[in-house]
Amino acid sequence: MALEHATVQRMMTGFRARIGITKIPVVVHVVFNKADENISVSQIRSQIAVLNRDYRATNPDRTKVPSVWAGLVADVRLQFALATKDPKGKRTSGITRTKTTRTSFGDDDAVKFTARGGMNAWPTKKYLNMWVCTLAGGLLGYAQFPGGPQRTDGVVILNTAFGTTGSVKAPFNLGRSATHEVGHWLNLRHIWGDTEDCSGSDLVADTPNAAGPNFGKPKFPSVSCGNGPSGDMFVNYMDYVDDDAMMMFTTQQAVRMQAALDGARSLIG
Ligand code: ARG
Ligand code: ZN
Ligand code: CA
Repeated sequence: MALEHATVQRMMTGFRARIGITKIPVVVHVVFNKADENISVSQIRSQIAVLNRDYRATNPDRTKVPSVWAGLVADVRLQFALATKDPKGKRTSGITRTKTTRTSFGDDDAVKFTARGGMNAWPTKKYLNMWVCTLAGGLLGYAQFPGGPQRTDGVVILNTAFGTTGSVKAPFNLGRSATHEVGHWLNLRHIWGDTEDCSGSDLVADTPNAAGPNFGKPKFPSVSCGNGPSGDMFVNYMDYVDDDAMMMFTTQQAVRMQAALDGARSLIG
């Protein structure tokens, strides 16, 4: 019997794809200047709950996916939990709180360094680091793809777009900014491939090629790049629509995220 090359390689190296649910330990670094930026434990827990629904496709709004894509809604098989052990093995709440003199941060990674007014990362091979702070210029969040520098690995989320309660503000009040940024952290690109001329790709076969981001609450269909009749998959977490307009990852996006967990992120969970 002939074995596929990949199968032989797995047998020789002991490589095994992850089966079942992968549990990801999360540390949330709250970096605040004013008291209302020091978000509550319940707001943090509400964000973890959103991740646990969205990454298992148990989010109630999945039923709003247009029927043409309903069969592509995927369970990514990830479960998130606030870390219970800190890097030294001591019990922890999985939350750090840092008072800063900075009134806002940009996308330059300063929030990830104590010396720059933020908080240093916990070992990024073992923890998903999530920094929560005030971001300037309407930025909702940003993330680092797998394979980047250790000290800056993780996601940064605007405090008023984090979770579903407390200081959150509509239309980014359903925790989807973190769902989106964690998608990047697991190697997903924007569904339009980050070019505005249909030439780019997200390297995912089951998301239609799209010209650019969709915003707000689009009406189905939103056609571009000759992708009619169904058009852009704007209900995907990797578009730029409002939180209540995005509600799915696809099967092939789940495959790509699991590949990142088997590759560059193989030590987590
Ligand atoms: N990086 C994107 C931004 O900062 C995040 C978009 C998230 N979208 C959302 N509906 N929460 O604009
Ligand atoms: Zn993005
Ligand atoms: Ca695609």
